[in-house]
Amino acid sequence: MSKRIQEILANMSLKQKIYHLQQVTTATYLTTKESRFEIITGPNSAVKLDKEMVFDVGTSLNLVGAETMIDAESNYLKNSKYKIPLMIMQDVIHGHRTLYPINLAVAGSFDRDLAKEVAQMAAKEASLDGMSVTFAPMVDLVRDPRWGRVMESSGEDPYLNGEMAKATVEGYQGDMGPYNIAACVKHFAAYGAAEAGRDYNTVDMSERTLREYYLPAYKAAVDAGVKMLMTAFNIVDGVPCVGNEHLVKDILRDEWGFDGVVISDYGAVEEMIVHGAAENKKEAAYLAMKAGCDIEMMSSCYAEYLEELINEGKITEEMVDKSVLRILDLKEDLGILDKPYRSVNVEESKAVQLSPEHREKARRGAEESAVLLKNDGILPLSKNVSSVALIGPLANTGEIHGSWHCGGKAEETISVYEGLKNLLGDKVKYAQGCQIEYDSCDTSLFDEACELAKNSECVVLCLGDHQEYSGEGNCRANIELPEVQYKLLDRILEVNKNVVVALFAGRPLAIQRLDKTAPAILDMWMPGTEGGNACANLLFGDAIPSGKITMTFPRALGQCPIYYNHYTTGRPKKEEDDEKFVRFTSCFLDMPNSPLYPFGYGLSYTSFEYSKLKMDKAGNIRLNVKNTGKRSGCEVVQLYVQENNPTVLRPKKELKAFKKVHLEAGKSTTVTFELNH
Ligand code: BGC
Repeated sequence: MSKRIQEILANMSLKQKIYHLQQVTTATYLTTKESRFEIITGPNSAVKLDKEMVFDVGTSLNLVGAETMIDAESNYLKNSKYKIPLMIMQDVIHGHRTLYPINLAVAGSFDRDLAKEVAQMAAKEASLDGMSVTFAPMVDLVRDPRWGRVMESSGEDPYLNGEMAKATVEGYQGDMGPYNIAACVKHFAAYGAAEAGRDYNTVDMSERTLREYYLPAYKAAVDAGVKMLMTAFNIVDGVPCVGNEHLVKDILRDEWGFDGVVISDYGAVEEMIVHGAAENKKEAAYLAMKAGCDIEMMSSCYAEYLEELINEGKITEEMVDKSVLRILDLKEDLGILDKPYRSVNVEESKAVQLSPEHREKARRGAEESAVLLKNDGILPLSKNVSSVALIGPLANTGEIHGSWHCGGKAEETISVYEGLKNLLGDKVKYAQGCQIEYDSCDTSLFDEACELAKNSECVVLCLGDHQEYSGEGNCRANIELPEVQYKLLDRILEVNKNVVVALFAGRPLAIQRLDKTAPAILDMWMPGTEGGNACANLLFGDAIPSGKITMTFPRALGQCPIYYNHYTTGRPKKEEDDEKFVRFTSCFLDMPNSPLYPFGYGLSYTSFEYSKLKMDKAGNIRLNVKNTGKRSGCEVVQLYVQENNPTVLRPKKELKAFKKVHLEAGKSTTVTFELNH
């Protein structure tokens, strides 16, 4: 900690120090708005903002736009007695104004550079709008597709999660230059294990499972130098994370040596009362401070009670000082103590947001992230086709960029209709076919769609979830495609067999029925701003699918939790018996054990052959990979290990390394791995 921030601290009163730990919405400071509040997530009525405190608050959250940021910061500085600039934070999750594919999709590219570059570009757009910190990456390991927030994660594998966490932190933070922003890894810990995939729900697991599966990605972010960490809403081992000393103090601070800023999640300190862990706000403040939480987001237990707790000797002023110093240190690191507006720049922001370079990366990212789930040979479609029927509730909408859209807008997002028209012009005709609502039974648009399908050479059918059926608070107890979408598909197949399905969703869906009937399925996830162009390129062969899924697709929800890196049982069912029921083995009466699509799965328009696998004594592995097809393409070579006779049981299969290679048709390459972790 520098002398300068020690001096700043020395000049602060106790009250002011305490208020510095409070976070409120940035909209609080706008002079141009009547309302001082803007609800982004969660309830914000819990913050008791009094006049005295409001201009001593240390940090604020959410608000996009360079001009609004300047307005908020200047109003703050004008009224603040001590004039320590506000540090503004934002959920820049998969892009700022330009949206890249959702994080679950980017992880499936298995491309560390892509994850890093999209974070870098998002940081540039966000910093020019005056943001200093992003609440990302979210690295919660996930196994339950009911949970809406799986879209923000990188899936079910601790190693891949860690690699993506590292790349993303590096992308956002870089060397903390003017176009970088600080990253905040979240949600510590194990938020992804919410029971039944219901948001904010109970998490309970053994310390071994926590450490082997769930903690590695947060640790990877810490090792990569992440500046901040957000605690989770959930309880772990009966204790809410924000007040969980074992997690925050013992593991994060003491074991991992993290000395960056810890922030609560939205209103989570006060929510300890609802959990039943604290009797009142005062106790909530005590528990969170004792555990090591520096900033309280959107409730005001600290502001109201820390002074009293100090006077009673329950906590010390030194504890508060430490937290303030961490925040000041980050402000200094970001340069905002000298330049309160940091990199904000109205003109440059306009030029950089949605720039051709950023759009190009968004398109390529979406192409690299899409997963070809099924292809009976119909894909890629030929551009010489005479007519294309584009049908489906997700075909002519920009609402495919994904939840957590920050500054991104649906009207700036390329729909599949626009993408196909960009590629094929007037050959493409559109009919909606059905509504997107998951409970819709309306078949009134079927006839028009079937008529179009009948008169066209091929059909592109865009099915799936609306983008707001995933994301925070958007959980589903049923992860099937809506019945109306299946009916539409069946009706179309009656008049035209050349149907390809482009699937849009923020989670793995249980699409066994779709897999049986659709000739081809391309999972576009939620592909971001350039989704429509990417989809068109992939369907018509201008781009070759290479994405792999990083979260298992179940055949049916009843198989969940289902994930590749599980333990074996004492009565495993033989793989060759998968389709049968074998009583007294570990299996279901009515369903195979295997998933519909496993982790790491994804097809291509070309094929690859592996040969000459060798391992030396040091654990270095070499193999030959050949593109045996007729097109160039990328292959993700994945290295899994299984430990023989371990002293403590290990999962059946564990990903330990991966490399993505690009090969022209007929060419081969040697891939090497060093197995040293
Ligand atoms: C979410 C966080 C997010 C925060 C601020 C919360 O509801 O859980 O992930 O960063 O809101 O918007």
